[in-house]
Amino acid sequence: MTRSSTQFVPAARVLHWLMAVMVLSMLFIGVGMVASVSEWHQCLIHIHKPLGIAILVLVVVRLIVRLRNPPPPLPADMPAVQKFAAHASHWVLYVLMLIIPLVGWAMLSAGGYPVMLSDSLRLPPIFPVNAAAFAILRHAHAWLAMLLFLTFLAHLGAALYHGLIRRDGVLRSMVGGRAK
Ligand code: HEM
Repeated sequence: MTRSSTQFVPAARVLHWLMAVMVLSMLFIGVGMVASVSEWHQCLIHIHKPLGIAILVLVVVRLIVRLRNPPPPLPADMPAVQKFAAHASHWVLYVLMLIIPLVGWAMLSAGGYPVMLSDSLRLPPIFPVNAAAFAILRHAHAWLAMLLFLTFLAHLGAALYHGLIRRDGVLRSMVGGRAK
C-alpha cells in the first residue's frame, strides 16, 4: 500500500473512525450495563460481549496496518515533549484496546461464565476458573476502561488543539480530504 506523506492510509482512517465509535459506545454500554437492574441489563450484556470481541479483532488488524504503513510525521515545529506525549498516548490507546477485551474475556472465563457471541457461538475459556482471579480481573476491567476513557479525552483535546488552534494539518491527516 502506498501513502501520501501528509495523510494516513485509507484503511487506517476507516479503522480509526469506526473504532472510535465502537470504543466510545462500549464505554457507555459497559457503565450502563453495570448500573442497570432492568431488562436493559441483559440486552446491554448481549451487545457488550460481541462488540468487545469485534474491537479485539479490529485492533489486531489495525496494528498490522499501522506497522506496515508508518503514519505521516508530526509537524517539525512541534515541541519535542508534545511529540513524545502524542506517540506515548497513541501506544497507550493501542495497548488498552487490546488488553481490555482480553481482560473481559479472561474475567468471564475465571468466573466460569460462558462467553457467548450469539445463541450458538461460544468462545473457549482463556483462564482457569478461579474466584479470586475473577474478582481481580473484574476490578482490572473497570479501571482499565476508566484509563481508556481518560486517555481518549486527552486524545480528543489534542486533536481539537491541532485542528482549531495550531491548524497544522495533523487533524486533517486523519480526516482525509486535500492536504495543506
Ligand atoms: C474495548 C473493549 C471493552 C470496553 C471498552 C469495555 C468497557 C467496560 C466498562 C466501562 C464496563 C463497566 C465497568 C464498571 O463500571 O464496573 C464493563 C463491564 C463489563 N465488561 Fe467490558 N469492555 C470491553 C470488552 C469486554 C469484553 C470483550 C467482554 C467479554 C467477552 C466484556 C465483559 C464485561 C462484563 C461481563 C462486564 C460487567 C462486569 C461487572 O459485572 O462488574 N467486556 N466493560
